Amino acid sequence: MSNNIAIAIDGPAGAGKSTIAKLIAKKKGYIYVDTGAMYRAMALYLIEQGIGADDQQRISEAVPGVDVTITYENGEQVVWLNGRNVNGLIRTEEVGKMASASSGNKEVRRKLVELQQALARKESVVMDGRDIGTCVLPDADVKVYLTADSHVRAVRRYEELQAKGQDCDLETIEKDIIDRDYQDMHRDISPLRQAEDAVLLDSSHMTIEEVAQAIIGMCDGAQEE
Ligand code: DC
Repeated sequence: MSNNIAIAIDGPAGAGKSTIAKLIAKKKGYIYVDTGAMYRAMALYLIEQGIGADDQQRISEAVPGVDVTITYENGEQVVWLNGRNVNGLIRTEEVGKMASASSGNKEVRRKLVELQQALARKESVVMDGRDIGTCVLPDADVKVYLTADSHVRAVRRYEELQAKGQDCDLETIEKDIIDRDYQDMHRDISPLRQAEDAVLLDSSHMTIEEVAQAIIGMCDGAQEE
C-alpha cells in the first residue's frame, strides 16, 4: 500500500478547479495534475492532423501516434506532445472545444486515464478533471465536486479574457459554457457527474480562499482517520 494522498476535484468548465487545485497542491506540497491539459494536448494533435471532431474512427486510429507526457518546472505542469512543449498552445477556445468533443472517444480516455493513474501511484496528487472521483481515482482520499452557476462562470471567464486584452462577448461565453457542460455530462463514457462519495461545493458565492480552506479541512480530516 502506498502512503500517497490523492485529492480529486471534478466539476464543469470554469468552476475554478485549476486555481483551487494549484493552491491546495502548493499548501500541501503535493503535485497538481491538470488532466484537462492532457485532453487539450491530444485535441491539439487532432486539429493539427486535420481530423474532425466527429470522426471517431480517425481519432481512434490517431491515438497510438500521440505521446503526451507531463513534467514539472518550478511547480508548474508542463505538457509535452510528441516531445514538444505545448503549454502555450492549448488554452484556446478552439482546442477546448475539440478536447470536449474528442474526450468522448474510448481510446483517447484509455490512454490518458492510464497516464493519470500512473502519476497518482508515484506521488501525492491534487488532480482535477471531469471523471477523477468516478473513474480515474475511485479510492481518492478526498473527493470534491466543484461547481458554480453558469452565469458566474461566464463572468469569471469574461473578466479573465478582458484582463488579457482579448476581445470577447459575455453572452457567447455563457452559451459556450452551457454547451460544453452538456457535452461533458452526456457523453457515453465517463460523463461528468458527482461521485456518490464526493462533497459538493458551489463556489458561486465563495472566494478562492474559502473554497481552498474548505478542501484543506477535508484533507486534514482524511489524514487523521
Ligand atoms: O478542464 P478543461 O477545460 O481544460 O478540459 C477540456 C476538456 O477535456 C473538457 O471539456 C472535457 C475534457 N476532460 C475530460 O473529459 N476528462 C477530464 N478528466 C478532464 C477534461
